[in-house]
Formats: sequence, structure tokens, C-alpha cells
Amino acid sequence: MQFFANFKMNHTRASTTAYIEQLESELSGVAIESVSVFPPATALQKGSNRVVVGAQNGYFEQSGAYTGEIGLEQLQEFEIDTILIGHSERREIFGESQEFIAKKYAYYKEQGFHIVYCIGEPLSLREQGEDALFEYLYSQFDGIDTNYEKLTIAYEPIWAIGTGVSATVADIELVHKRLKEKFDAPLLYGGSVKVDSIEQIAAIESVDGVLVGSASLNAKEFAALIKRGLGV
Ligand code: PGA
Repeated sequence: MQFFANFKMNHTRASTTAYIEQLESELSGVAIESVSVFPPATALQKGSNRVVVGAQNGYFEQSGAYTGEIGLEQLQEFEIDTILIGHSERREIFGESQEFIAKKYAYYKEQGFHIVYCIGEPLSLREQGEDALFEYLYSQFDGIDTNYEKLTIAYEPIWAIGTGVSATVADIELVHKRLKEKFDAPLLYGGSVKVDSIEQIAAIESVDGVLVGSASLNAKEFAALIKRGLGV
């Protein structure tokens, strides 16, 4: 099981450093495949012994005249080689088109980054039935090289993100099964994963890991979630 913490616009540099230290100590002696933390851009720093630090975003250039963005140069300062691309908040709030997202993907793939690529549908799509659902989800792979060996896919239904209500096991299985048939990449589930729901989510065969927002913000709570997910 792989565990990813998406801090979104939470935490500072100081609190992220303290968080990583605490997570390391909470997880000492626990055998884990991988744990990664995505802090905000101002809190980027080198990872620790077992905690990988990744970026929530990055522009598809080394450096240059791109006000408000960070690029490869800023990520390399902290030896960051993991990036989140295609999160629904970037798509919906910041208007990132599929074409723009595909450019980011191609760039960071070229740089050899580990890419956690997010897809997910709004509730209105779910309600339109399976054909519409999968047509929508597959369209989020337009321009994306899904054979890239350092790709991890995260399925995050928008209606389950930040709502406190995770998708059901059946909801997750429906989508994961089809994605697994189509793509070889490890597959994460994200959307209101909590300490109370991790056990049943981790037990789903097609779930290789989880991408956690709110329940990852406290290191102790995230460590508890990881341990429950691993059954230790
Ligand atoms: P959530 O966020 O766990 O707070 O629902 C997940 C995500 O958006 O990655």
C-alpha cells in the first residue's frame, strides 16, 4: 500500500518540517512501501529517510517569465522528483484544461518525475450512467502517456473530495476494475479517506494506495491511518 498526503493550501514550511519529523517517528518500525507528502510550494523541502516530499504543482518550464508559478529549477533545489498533476481543484478552480495538463505531464515525464496523475468525475456525470462516466474519465487521459513507468493514477471522484463522505466500496470497485483493465500503472483512491474508512478501502484488491487530503493534515492522525491501512 502506498500513502500520499495532499496538504493543499495548508501548513507552513515550519509546520511541514515538524510534521515530517513526527511522521517519521510515528512510523518507525513500520514496514511501508511508500509515503509521500505534498506540501504547499513555500514548504517544499528535501524528504526525510522514509517520507518523500512531492510538489502539488509545477509549470512546464525550467524557469522564466511565468508570474506566480514555480518550475523545474525551484523543484530541483529541494531534489523534488514527484509531482501531482490533474487534481480536480486545479482543473475546476484554476481552469486547467486537458491540453494544459497534458503539457505539464509531458514535461515532467521528460524530466523523469514520478507523476501522480488525478482523474475524477463530478456527481452529475455519475448520475448519467456508466457510459457517460467512463467516457468522461477516459477523456481525462487525452494527451497522457499512460505507459510511462513512473506514473501512478489517482481516481478521485469530485463528489467525495472534502465532503467527509467517501465513495462506497462498490463505487470504487466499479471504476478501479475498468481502469485496471486498461492501464498498468498503480492505482490510488482519493476522496474523504479517513481513519475509519481506510480498512475497507485498503482491502479492495484494485486499490494500490490512497491520496488523502484532510485526514493527512495531522501527522499523528495520518500515521494512525497508515497503520490501520496496513493492518499493523
Ligand atoms: P480529502 O481530499 O481527503 O480531503 O477528500 C483528497 C484530495 O483531494 O486529494
